[in-house]
Amino acid sequence: MKNPPEHERTVGSINVIVCADAQSASQKAAELMSNAIRSRPKIVLGLATGGTPVEMYRQLAKMHEHDGLDFSNVTSFNLDEYIGLSADHPQSYRMFMQQKLFDHINIKSENTHVPDGLAADPQQHAKEFEALIVKAGGIDVQLLGVGQNGHIAFNEPGSTADSRARVIELTPATIQSNARFFASADEVPKTAITLGIGTILEAKRIVLLAIGSNKATAIHRALEGKPDISHPASLLQNHDDVTFIVDESAASLL
Ligand code: GLP
Repeated sequence: MKNPPEHERTVGSINVIVCADAQSASQKAAELMSNAIRSRPKIVLGLATGGTPVEMYRQLAKMHEHDGLDFSNVTSFNLDEYIGLSADHPQSYRMFMQQKLFDHINIKSENTHVPDGLAADPQQHAKEFEALIVKAGGIDVQLLGVGQNGHIAFNEPGSTADSRARVIELTPATIQSNARFFASADEVPKTAITLGIGTILEAKRIVLLAIGSNKATAIHRALEGKPDISHPASLLQNHDDVTFIVDESAASLL
């Protein structure tokens, strides 16, 4: 089946691909990621969690199964993890990655990195995690989602453009919007380990995927607002190779 048409434009320095719907945006993102993997088999990927990339990961797993997309030389680093959740907690980001992607592809488990939510010294762990990224040669392609308040990874509003990997306190808005994955908002951890905006901006290429009308304001401010720490995604305007892949609903205020 052919995908409905998409259109592409540049907003400031950012390349924006607007797809007709959620499915074709996910497909587009999966194509972009798979092309990057095929052209550089030893690629270092920066990966994101949340509801948004689930379908994209499903597509990548399908490409592995049916088209031989090979992850055997790929290395991955995830953006963030909740503090206090073990790797096998159903809502940990490590578990998410296993279930949505890693268990369905041939990536080597030792090449997958997700911050450890149970690290004895989370601040130190964050620093070491960042050092591992540098040791791996840096991120080639960083995938991002965006929070309704403009957060990227768990860099909440107020995070500076030069922020590094660290422990962060989640805002009530983020706790509320992530409560849908937990039994109640009370169960959502209040703190997390996140890569910084400075860390993210060091990636060679950044791809942000946003789907749905509840992301329209965040996308509008990220692309058409002045870069400002009150809206972390707007700081991506400071990078010279950023692509936003959005569906019509997320693009509706542009
Ligand atoms: C979480 C993650 C972010 C993600 C955001 C949006 O807070 N830390 O990396 O981009 O949620 O998630 P969703 O895709 O579920 O809207």
